Parts: sequence; structure tokens; C-alpha cells
Amino acid sequence: TWKMDSFVAATVEELRKKIGDGRVLCALSGGVDSSVCAALLAKAVGRQLTCVFVDHGLLRKNEREQVCEVFGEGGAFDINFICVDARDRFYQKLAGQTAPESKRKIIGEEFIRVFEEEAKKIGAVDFLAQGTIYPDVVESGLGGESAVIKSHHNVGGLPDKVDFKALVEPLRDLFKDEVRQAGRELGLPEYLVSRQPFPGPGLAIRIIGEVTPEKVAIVQDADAIWREEVDKLPMSQRPSQYFAALTNMQSVGVMGDERTYDYAIALRAVTTTDFMTAEVTLLPTETLTTAANRIVNEVKNVNRVMFDYTTKPPATIEFE
Ligand code: XMP
Repeated sequence: TWKMDSFVAATVEELRKKIGDGRVLCALSGGVDSSVCAALLAKAVGRQLTCVFVDHGLLRKNEREQVCEVFGEGGAFDINFICVDARDRFYQKLAGQTAPESKRKIIGEEFIRVFEEEAKKIGAVDFLAQGTIYPDVVESGLGGESAVIKSHHNVGGLPDKVDFKALVEPLRDLFKDEVRQAGRELGLPEYLVSRQPFPGPGLAIRIIGEVTPEKVAIVQDADAIWREEVDKLPMSQRPSQYFAALTNMQSVGVMGDERTYDYAIALRAVTTTDFMTAEVTLLPTETLTTAANRIVNEVKNVNRVMFDYTTKPPATIEFE
């Protein structure tokens, strides 16, 4: 804590010096890194900062509301905050798309486009802020394994139509744990700071095959229940990453006297340190059965829940 205490103070000073009375633009995803980056800048330059948060319609349940509560009007920071509801745009682009890499590519490109449009409305800025952390720098330099298998490294994908003089990356020397600690120092809520990783393409890669708003709603509801049940466990028993995915499989079930033909949800829970390999987390039976029961009872169009018992490799953590 002592170390991060002085990191926050020193970085705020540095940012003030570097930015002067310039304007800063920051793309806020709601993840740990971009949130801490935004909080640092907010503390350093306040209203000179504009944060743009894009709801691509592939966020977890209530995620947008949570981000808006912290960074929006009446929240903890005195900044300019723009929340873009781009859900329909993304759904339209994704209609009919079934290949994982096409889905990723479409989402990545559309995201840049939305961001550029917002930047254009804001007008000239002096700095673009990014929550790049040390492992991102190393991985992209080495062209890490994951970048080859799935195109998901976040470094290097800069919007080329946004005019700015320099990049600001205040977290470039930090490891994830240090970023979380800095977030706590900055007064960010614990649910934001201790968040598990969530991929840029969001729920799109947890829905096998075509993404539709209906499928997003199903996976959001199932995932919220799964996380709620797992979060009842003490911190030390919690997996590194845990979520629900919507398989593209429908199967026969029975509800009262009726035959159903509905979707199967897959639950995932893995323990890992580097996300390059992962073990299946052994969870209490009660956690599994309660979650499964709740999901079939509370989520419409789901009549089966399965637990993914595969390590990485050969499976990946995400489903696409
Ligand atoms: P996989 O599925 O490759 O995931 O075993 C390893 C870690 O990377 C995350 N992941 C992504 N993150 N964009 C991201 O920002 C992506 O396209 C993407 N795909 C996977 C995944 O959540 C896990 O933490």
C-alpha cells in the first residue's frame, strides 16, 4: 500500500506536468485497467478529461449502470463522461455472423468507429489516455501465444482518425495487482477493482454462433446467477475466471406437462495465474446445483445447464 500510495501521488503530479492545460480523451471499458487509468487522470486534471464509454450490447448484466454510477454525473469524479448506446449498431453488424474471428474483427472495428465518431464531436484533444499495463507491453512485444490463436491483444489497436499529440499511459510499469491497489487508493469501489477479466468482444465470444439480442439477454441472466452463487464463496475459493456461456445447442426437456426444446447453458470456472493454461476449479456441489436450479427456473428459454470440465489446453477459457 505504501508503494501504491506514493505511486498515485507521484503519477498525479507527473500527469499534471505533462498535460498542463491540455485536453485528454480516454476510452473507458469499465475494466480494471481503464477504470484506474481514468481515475488517475480524473484526480490529476478533472474536467480536462473526457471519458467515452461504449455500450456495445455485449456487456454483462448491469455493467453499464455500474460504470455510469461511478464515472457519470453525480459519481465520484468531476470529469466529462459520455456513455454511448451503440447496442443496435453492433447487433446489426453481427447479424448472420457465426465465425469467432469475424465476430471479433467486426466488434473491434465497430468499436474504433464509434469511438472516432465521438472523438470528432468532442473536437481536438491533446492527449489520448490508455490503460496499457506492463504485461500488455511485454506480450505485444513478443507477439504472445494468445495473439496468434485469438486476435485479442489490446495494444496497437489505436483509432487512426482521432487527432491527438501524445499518448498517456500511466499504468505502463504496473502489474495487475498493483493496478488494483492503485484503484483502491483512488477510492474506486471494490467490485470494480477486484473484477475478473472480461474480454473486449464481451458476451459475443460466450455465445456460440450468431449473436442476437435475445441470446445476449439469456447469457446475461444466466451469467449473473452463476456469478452471484460463486461470489458467496470466500475469496480464497473463488476461481480466476467464471462465467456462463450460451451453447448453440437446443435439446428436449419437460416443464409441467409440456415438452420443451430450449438452450443449454455451459458454466465455466477456471483457476490460472497467467491465462495461458488453466485448471478447472473444483467447486462445492451446492454451488453447482443451486446455480443450475436457479438458471433453469429463472432464465427463460434455458432447460439444461452443463459444467465445462475441460482444462486449457486443449480447450480455451472462452468458448470462441
Ligand atoms: P482464451 O479463451 O484464449 O482466453 O483461453 C484467455 C484470456 O483472454 C481473454 N480473452 C480475450 N480478451 N479480447 C480480450 O480482450 C478477446 O478477444 C479475448 N479472447 C479471450 C479471456 O477472457 C481469458 O481471460
